[in-house]
Amino acid sequence: MKQKLTILFIDDDESLTTVVAHQLKGMGYAVEVANRGAAGLEKFKESPPDLVLLDLQMPDMHGMEVLKKIRAFNDEVPIIIGTAYGTVDNAVEACQKGADDYLTKPFAKEQLRFALEKAMRLKKLERENIRLQSELQDKYKFGHILTKNKEMKALLELAGRAARSDAAVLITGESGTGKELMAKAIHHNSPRRDKPFIAVNCPSIPETLIESELFGHEKGAFTGAVAAKPGKFELADGGSLFLDEIGDLKFDLQAKLLRVLQEHEIERVGGTKTIPVDVRVLAATNQNLGDLVANGQFRQDLFYRLNVIPITIPPLRQRPEDIPLLAEHFVKKYADKPTRIDPEFLKELMRYNWPGNVRELENIVQRAVVLSTSDVLTGDDIPGEQLSHKPHAEGGNVTLAEAEKHAIIDALNQTKWNQSRAAAILNIPRHVLIYRMKKLGIHND
Ligand SMILES: Nc1ncnc2c1ncn2[C@@H]1O[C@H](COP(=O)(O)OP(=O)(O)OP(=O)(O)O)[C@@H](O)[C@H]1O
Ligand SMILES: [Mg+2]
Repeated sequence: MKQKLTILFIDDDESLTTVVAHQLKGMGYAVEVANRGAAGLEKFKESPPDLVLLDLQMPDMHGMEVLKKIRAFNDEVPIIIGTAYGTVDNAVEACQKGADDYLTKPFAKEQLRFALEKAMRLKKLERENIRLQSELQDKYKFGHILTKNKEMKALLELAGRAARSDAAVLITGESGTGKELMAKAIHHNSPRRDKPFIAVNCPSIPETLIESELFGHEKGAFTGAVAAKPGKFELADGGSLFLDEIGDLKFDLQAKLLRVLQEHEIERVGGTKTIPVDVRVLAATNQNLGDLVANGQFRQDLFYRLNVIPITIPPLRQRPEDIPLLAEHFVKKYADKPTRIDPEFLKELMRYNWPGNVRELENIVQRAVVLSTSDVLTGDDIPGEQLSHKPHAEGGNVTLAEAEKHAIIDALNQTKWNQSRAAAILNIPRHVLIYRMKKLGIHND
C-alpha cells in the first residue's frame, strides 16, 4: 500500500487546526498538528513531514523564525504559509525567505488541496532537475570526447563504468586518437576526481632518470641529486597516474613497476624506507603490447597487470561520421568569429585517410581557420598537397563496409543530410540508402 504523505500543520488557532486537519485527512494525507512554533519545530525534527503548513502569528515563536530554523537544516521540504487577511505582505516576505507559497485564511478547501499538490509537485520536479543536472555534469566530462560512432559510444559507456572502479585501464589506439583525453575523462569521472591526475610520458624521459622520475630519489642518490625529490607515484597519491607510451618502458623498469603495482608501496632511489602509495594506474600505448610480449620486449605479468580493462580507440578513418562533428568542434574552438563550413571543405576532409587521426584533423582545421580571410571555410582552405594526394583508400586496410559508409556519409554531407538528394548522388533508391544507413549505423544526431 502506498504510504500517505504527511503534513505538519503549525498554527496556534486550535479551532482552525482541528477543522483543517479533518479536511486534510479527508484528502488522504496524514496530519500532525502543533499549536506552538517551538512544538512544531520539535515535531519537524522528530519526524520530518512531506510538507509544512505554517502560521506566521504565533504567541511563542513567530512563523518567520520557525521557517528560518526549518530551512537551516532542510531546504527541500515544501513550506506553505497560512496568513490572515490583510497580512499578505508578511507572507510574501516569507516566500522570499524560503517558503514556497502562501494561502490566505480561512482556507478554501479546494484552494488548499490545489496549493498542496502544486507545492509537492514542484519540489519533486526540482529534485528531479538537480539529479538530472548532476548526471549531465558527469556526462559532460566524457562529453569532451565527441563521437557519433556506435563503437565509440559503446567504448565511452565501458569507460564510464571502468571509471567508478580502481581497476587498471590500458588504452590503446593509433597516435592522435584521443588516448590521453580518454585517460583524463576516466580520472575525472572516478571517485579520485578531486585528487591529482599525473601524466608520465615514458619515452620523453632519459633512461637514466626515469626511475627517479617515477619513484623519486633521496638527496645524494646520484650525481646531481642535490635534494630529495618525490616521484610521480608519490605526487599522484590518492589520484591517478597516467603512464603514456608504456610500450617504451625498459625491461628492468618494467619489473620495478610491476612490484610497485603489486605492493602498493615505493622506495625512492637511494632510499631505504618504503612509502605506501594509493594510485590508480591508467596506461596508454600506440604499439601492440601483445606483440611486444610475444617478442620478449614486454613482460607478460606487467601486461596482465595493466590490461585489466582494455580500451581500444578506433582510428578516425574507421569512424568517418566523426569527421564533420570534430571539424565543427575545432572550428568553434579556434575561430574568433562565427565560421561556416562549406560542403567542399568537408568533402576534402572525408577523402583523406587521417594517419594522424584526431590530432591531425585538429591541426588542419586550426590552420584553415587561422589562414582563412572569410567566415566560411571552403575547399581552398585545405592544404591540397597535404591532403588530397592521399586518398582514403590508400590507408591500406579499408574494408568494403568502411568504403561504403564513407561514400554514404560523403554524399550526406554534400547534401546537408538530405536523403533524397544523397541517394541521387549515390545512384540508389532512397529506401536503399535508408536501409544501408541503418545497417552501417549512420545517423545524424
Ligand atoms: N573524440 C574527440 N573529441 C574531441 N576532441 C578529441 C577527440 N579525440 C581526440 N581529441 C583531441 O585530439 C587531440 C589529440 O588527442 P590525445 O592527445 O588524447 O591523443 P593521443 O591518442 O594521446 O595521441 P598520441 O598517441 O599522439 O599521444 C587532443 O587535442 C584531443 O583533445
Ligand atoms: Mg598521447
